[in-house]
Amino acid sequence: MNRLIDKILDLKKKRNAIFLVHNYQPPEIQNIADILGDSLDLSRKAKESSAKTIVFCGVHFMAETASILCPDKEVLLPELAAGCPMADMVTGKKLRDLKKKHPGVPVVCYINTTAEVKAESDICCTSANAVKIVNSIDADKIIFVPDKNLGHYVSTKTKKDIILWDGYCPVHVAISARHVLDAKKKHPNAEVLAHPECTPDVVDLADKILSTTGICAYAKESKNKEFIIGTELGIIYRLKKENPDKSFYPASESAVCQNMKKITLEKILWALEDMKFKVTVEENISKKAIGCIDKMLKLSI
Ligand code: 13P
Ligand code: SF4
Repeated sequence: MNRLIDKILDLKKKRNAIFLVHNYQPPEIQNIADILGDSLDLSRKAKESSAKTIVFCGVHFMAETASILCPDKEVLLPELAAGCPMADMVTGKKLRDLKKKHPGVPVVCYINTTAEVKAESDICCTSANAVKIVNSIDADKIIFVPDKNLGHYVSTKTKKDIILWDGYCPVHVAISARHVLDAKKKHPNAEVLAHPECTPDVVDLADKILSTTGICAYAKESKNKEFIIGTELGIIYRLKKENPDKSFYPASESAVCQNMKKITLEKILWALEDMKFKVTVEENISKKAIGCIDKMLKLSI
């Protein structure tokens, strides 16, 4: 293992690369991160970095977003098949059809979308800033794609009328209210921290609704010693590492994003050796999509 990591770090230097790693990645990948974070952190850091190569340890839409933001860098995704099923639940064509039904209504897209969908949207958001972004829009009605659960959560925090798309994260909807109630019974002193991709009945049972980095920051600051975590299991490693004196209980052991686990150390080495797999976006799409991501980043400072 150490030889493998040495080889990776050696090549990383040669390629002038940075490792951007999502909070759901396996422990050994989190351990070599330059930046470990949520979708908002990672897109910000991609833009700010002076490295020539970005190795994105996450899923395809995240690498695509980095590629749009950094046209002068090589963005590598070590496993091209690491996708996000929710991002594939809406396409550019389907969104254009919806926009025709609601002429003039602004579109907010979750960052978990393809570049083509971002190119059709007015502004993008992440789980960390969705409420702020929606409330910043000067319109009474908005279209929100693709996550109906995040969209529903936002609708409880705004006066705006939100037209929802029927998309969802298969990993987060696998966490049920029953799971949370059982965990609360076992750990009555624990605070429940959940991601807004969870279903409304789970959100209603949570003490805090936060992005993945928001969950990590809250757990660190809180005086509480026990937490029930309503999101993907990969985050538990970071939470335990950063808070060795606290206990973290997954709401559901089945909340595993298999796509996030497709990145391995070997694949990172091969990515750096062969400079693969390069994630690029056609210029005509990238030009349109960058505005919607940049607007979000400006509003999230
Ligand atoms: P975060 O931006 O909160 O990390 O969420 C990304 C994601 O894909 C959650 O499923
Ligand atoms: Fe997509 Fe859900 Fe996996 Fe996040 S956890 S990358 S939303 S499938």
